[in-house]
Amino acid sequence: MRVVRTIADLRALLRPLREEGKRIGFVPTMGFLHDGHATLIRQSAARCDATVVSIFVNPTQFGLSEDLASYPRDLERDQNICLEADASVLFLPEAAEIYPTGFQTHIEPGRLADPLCGRFRPGHFRGVATVVAKLFNMVQPDLAFFGQKDFQQTVVIRRMARDLNLPVDVVVVPTVREADGLALSSRNTYLDEDARRRALLLSEGLLAAKAAFEAGERLGTRLLEIARAPMAGVDSIQYLELVDSQSLEPIQGPVDRTAALCVAAYVGSTRLIDNVLLTPPVAAAAGSQA
Ligand code: PAF
Repeated sequence: MRVVRTIADLRALLRPLREEGKRIGFVPTMGFLHDGHATLIRQSAARCDATVVSIFVNPTQFGLSEDLASYPRDLERDQNICLEADASVLFLPEAAEIYPTGFQTHIEPGRLADPLCGRFRPGHFRGVATVVAKLFNMVQPDLAFFGQKDFQQTVVIRRMARDLNLPVDVVVVPTVREADGLALSSRNTYLDEDARRRALLLSEGLLAAKAAFEAGERLGTRLLEIARAPMAGVDSIQYLELVDSQSLEPIQGPVDRTAALCVAAYVGSTRLIDNVLLTPPVAAAAGSQA
């Protein structure tokens, strides 16, 4: 695995691969990797000739009161995870490489960035879309891999790639969970034992609603009630919503197309998000896309 820190070195490394017609996969991350990231890297390595992983804690997607300065970092461990998961290139740019002096051009996502997390993190998806577009331009991947846990992010990025004709397939990989259901997240490291127990109530609610859906429950209001019941023990739920998986508009009435049941909550001072997809069998048979 080669480690590069500048865009020039990255391009020099990837140019010959591209000229040989090699398929390049890309996994953008903010580091402090866990098995969810390793799964993305392994999937990329299985489907592509070379896999680039970037680690860049992107300042423009953090709000003023958010955890940019304290965001967890462990480069040595991250490097080992990348190596074991079969990454070919690790790209570790400094902030000045990504945002040089005078930087002033941004990607403004449309209304997909407004609901759910967008309501509570103004400017977040503008920062995500901008850095991902820039990273796509630097790496020029054939395929880029993102985790379903950041569901709204995947929808915003897919839309951006289509709208801007970026020649990349955005692949969304199902959320990796601990054995007890907790969705893997770099922020889980902030949870002490008691907070972790409360965090578990989020996936408990979502998975209960998914089980009810799979047993035939289609009424959105009922599914939300089922999800909300265990979450009463969580400190503060920012939102729990059932939305169309493509438009992110709230589902009124029965779930007759793929829906995303999404939650964001504070457990102590840690903000966590999670979601499950609910796909009616007819939509699944017709290949309904998340
Ligand atoms: O999901 C993340 O880790 C980040 O939002 C991403 C896609 C790497 C952009 O900074």
